[in-house]
Amino acid sequence: MARDLGERNREWFARYKDDVKKEGKPFFPRAMLHDTIMGLVTILVMIGLAVVWYYDADGTEPGILGPWYTEPAEPGTTDFIPRPDWYFYFLFYLLRIFEWPETVFIATVGIPTVALVLLLGLPFYDRRPERRPSRRPVAMVAAVLTVVSMGVLTWKGATATEALGSELIELVPEWAEEQGFADDEQAVAGADLFAVSGCLNCHTYLGQGSANLGAPDLSAVGRTNDAAYFVQYLANPAQFGNTVMGSYSYLGQENLEALGAFLEASKGGG
Ligand code: HEC
Repeated sequence: MARDLGERNREWFARYKDDVKKEGKPFFPRAMLHDTIMGLVTILVMIGLAVVWYYDADGTEPGILGPWYTEPAEPGTTDFIPRPDWYFYFLFYLLRIFEWPETVFIATVGIPTVALVLLLGLPFYDRRPERRPSRRPVAMVAAVLTVVSMGVLTWKGATATEALGSELIELVPEWAEEQGFADDEQAVAGADLFAVSGCLNCHTYLGQGSANLGAPDLSAVGRTNDAAYFVQYLANPAQFGNTVMGSYSYLGQENLEALGAFLEASKGGG
């Protein structure tokens, strides 16, 4: 290279300043006025859509922009699979590649942080004035790799299938077999709920879960009490002297009865 980089940069900078003087438009007030007008238009459109949506729909009757709501949320549901919006699928899939808990840090903090720092640092380490894509092989390869990897991750995230709620739910058929309640639909539904409601964070059941806060193993709890008792117990554990376990009354009576049937059917197997 005949000339050093600093000299060339100064030359380009002078040319840039010249251009600005000749053809540039001042940031204040021109650009700011445009931004303000465009911002106002966007907000007004949003308010307009909200007003049309609200007044065109009537409670449960849908309008042209959809209903107020579809159906009340069901806190006890066991067949809802939580998924992010599509533009987060790439992050969502990263979380499946790096698994909890050993490597999850790489996906949640590591990779996104490195990418952001690289992006923020771009003006500081990419200082050549050259902008033609054919003369910037490193930047072009990096850009293509980014787009391709995000595309692949988004695709994988979009087509990934999920175990229902949690992996524990896959054990329900095994439990039903061992405890002999496979033909009892209500008990199986209760077992599904049991698997996804966090009970196994404190209780153990047929070797699963972890024993915490003094919670007993529930594999054979059905030997000592019946469904009606468990329904009352789950609705208000404090009444039975259990101040560790929260109330599960929010699950609703039907779900509590399913849990009760499941617990009653849990007689230790064998
Ligand atoms: C935060 C921890 C925790 C969670 C979560 C929890 N429990 Fe408990 N549970 C306990 C503790 C502690 C006891 C024992 C209280 C005592 O000995 O008085 C208990 C007792 C029970 C009992 C009574 C056992 C007996 O022998 O009478 C049942 C039944 C029970 N839990 C079911 C459940 C179900 C079903 C869930 C999930 C819907 C659940 N628990 C979630 C902590 C928990």
